[in-house]
Amino acid sequence: MTSDQTIWSSLPVPAILIGEDDRILDVNTAAEGFFNASSKSVVGTPVWDQVAIDAPIEDAFARARDKGTPLFVNDIDVGTGNRAPLQCGLQIAPLSGHPGQMIMMISPRELAARMTRNHSVHSAAQSAIGMAEMLAHEIKNPLAGITGAAQLLSMNLSQEDLELTDLIVAESRRIVKLLEQVEQFGNLSPPDMKPVNIHDVLDRARRSALLGFGAHMKIIEDYDPSLPLAWGDPDQLLQVVLNLVKNASEAADTRGGTIRLHTYFEHSFRLRRADGSGRSLPLQVEIIDDGPGLPEDIRGDIFDPFVSGRENGTGLGLALVSKIVSDHGGWISVTSVPGRTVFRLSLARVPRDQDSKENG
Ligand SMILES: Nc1ncnc2c1ncn2[C@@H]1O[C@H](COP(=O)(O)OP(=O)(O)OP(=O)(O)O)[C@@H](O)[C@H]1O
Ligand SMILES: [Mg+2]
Repeated sequence: MTSDQTIWSSLPVPAILIGEDDRILDVNTAAEGFFNASSKSVVGTPVWDQVAIDAPIEDAFARARDKGTPLFVNDIDVGTGNRAPLQCGLQIAPLSGHPGQMIMMISPRELAARMTRNHSVHSAAQSAIGMAEMLAHEIKNPLAGITGAAQLLSMNLSQEDLELTDLIVAESRRIVKLLEQVEQFGNLSPPDMKPVNIHDVLDRARRSALLGFGAHMKIIEDYDPSLPLAWGDPDQLLQVVLNLVKNASEAADTRGGTIRLHTYFEHSFRLRRADGSGRSLPLQVEIIDDGPGLPEDIRGDIFDPFVSGRENGTGLGLALVSKIVSDHGGWISVTSVPGRTVFRLSLARVPRDQDSKENG
């Protein structure tokens, strides 16, 4: 049997044990990290001194203790003495066998979103896209019929009515374009993994952007020349970077803006999986722009298919990005404020056994 102590200190979420008098009895390792303080310095202090909450939950907390029921609170700002408040979810439950004692777990939302996103995007995108692909296929034929009929009609129409048939044709074309993009997902094969120089990929994306959709942008290279090779599919990674650079170009003012392609090595970056295994993703690629930032209303959902903040956007770019990155076992995250949006791509380096093959 694993001891309670081991479980307690291995819990990946900050957890606090609270006594009858609302003082802290114990905190786990994750909570020490959250408070940025040692367990010694917080044990014995009143819990509400350490956990500053912007909502009146003390009554609800007392009720949960009296009745012996759990209490969940979503999306509240939790501050600690040492840093700015973070939006968190709280899970509070009575400790069984110890009347009056309560356990509180704090899940910072950023963290929770990061932990679950990779899995949920994968399956949610998968089913939405499977459905959409089927629809795309079914819609294309009748649509061709509609377009053809409109074109036939237009032959004997007055100028005024012509506008209407033109509209039918133009809108149908737009739908066909959308359907073709949806079908791209279906055609996406599993990545053909090999050692990739990520700087070559970035260069290709940069050149092609400057010739087309990014002609109004200034694209700066800020590379770590000692970066090792990444493990991935160069063509798919190019699609990822192109989509990110395209989004940055489209978000910018038509007069232009700046995109910085930044690479660096972060030895300690690991993705922890639900099964506890960790995967090292030390290669970091950031696509940074100085545009207006993510629209407030969709910022939590931009990686979902069909979520777009642009008039003519299909919302498939980032869904594709997310699928490719997760097929690579990599990670993508974003931080955005007006004037600075950073999409950060984290990739694995070439596995050891492949390394020797490549050099041999
Ligand atoms: N760098 C960025 N700056 C500001 N907003 C962004 C940025 N990147 C993405 N977005 C927002 O995220 C939305 C979703 O992006 P996504 O690439 O998935 O779809 P899209 O660009 O609208 O359409 P598509 O890529 O299919 O043409 C965009 O519409 C835009 O509102
Ligand atoms: Mg896009």
